[in-house]
Amino acid sequence: MRLLETNSLTAGYGDSRAISSISLAIDPGEVLAIVGANGAGKSTLLRVIAGAHQPTAGRVEFRGQDVSKLRDFQRNRLGISLVPEGRRLFASMTVGENLAVGAGSGRKGQWNIDAVVEAIPMIKSLLKRNASTLSGGQQQAVAIGRSLMSNPEVLLLDEVSLGLAPIIIDELYRSLAVVQKSGLGIILVEQDLARTVSVADRIVCMLEGHNVLEGTPAQLTHKQITDAYFGHAIASFADGGPADARGD
Ligand SMILES: Nc1ncnc2c1ncn2[C@@H]1O[C@H](COP(=O)(O)OP(=O)(O)OP(=O)(O)O)[C@@H](O)[C@H]1O
Ligand SMILES: [Mg+2]
Repeated sequence: MRLLETNSLTAGYGDSRAISSISLAIDPGEVLAIVGANGAGKSTLLRVIAGAHQPTAGRVEFRGQDVSKLRDFQRNRLGISLVPEGRRLFASMTVGENLAVGAGSGRKGQWNIDAVVEAIPMIKSLLKRNASTLSGGQQQAVAIGRSLMSNPEVLLLDEVSLGLAPIIIDELYRSLAVVQKSGLGIILVEQDLARTVSVADRIVCMLEGHNVLEGTPAQLTHKQITDAYFGHAIASFADGGPADARGD
């Protein structure tokens, strides 16, 4: 049984389809990276997994249980936590209060404020600061910390590094490595291909809502990934399905 699995997940907005028949799975301690150009459907996929957006077809399974009908807060209680694009902290609260909100899932586990500060040292000096005064990188650190406070088994991260300075991104990714070692399954959306290849156990490339390429960093060449990213692989996808585009 996989930790989390999607089966032919399809979703959209009104009449327009954003993701088409996406099937993927992760195990504990694994990092699955989703890459793809703007509008490829990456955020929609994460939101559907988290229960923040309803699919029109397909299923999300968590430890073998179909959670497709559950609301986002119910999935959070089961152990699925989304760090959304744009971070969305509570601006009128302190960092410590934002972290406390994360604990509202009521799940027991290893993550509390001390554990979060140890994994993400950047947060330590910020606990009493108002969230509205934080830099982008600090906000991202707190958003990740807040998710951890819910003691998730699956962490969904949407564009951790967007708009941040490389030195901050390095620091955040060092923290994510610590988090991964604790055994969480992580699905992360990342625009930075080099970084994706360095952290991911497996990579899924999305193009116009489809999974057009999937494999381990060792199986995929840089060219295959960039071709899939920019759409050059769509011809082989249309010919024979995503298996044709695989590097294995
Ligand atoms: N709230 C919305 N209402 C209508 N259409 C939307 C909405 N959110 C996304 N879309 C559309 O759905 C498709 C997928 O968008 P999505 O945000 O999932 O892509 P993405 O891969 O996360 O893109 P980005 O890299 O820009 O974040 C796009 O065509 C987008 O315009
Ligand atoms: Mg997005």
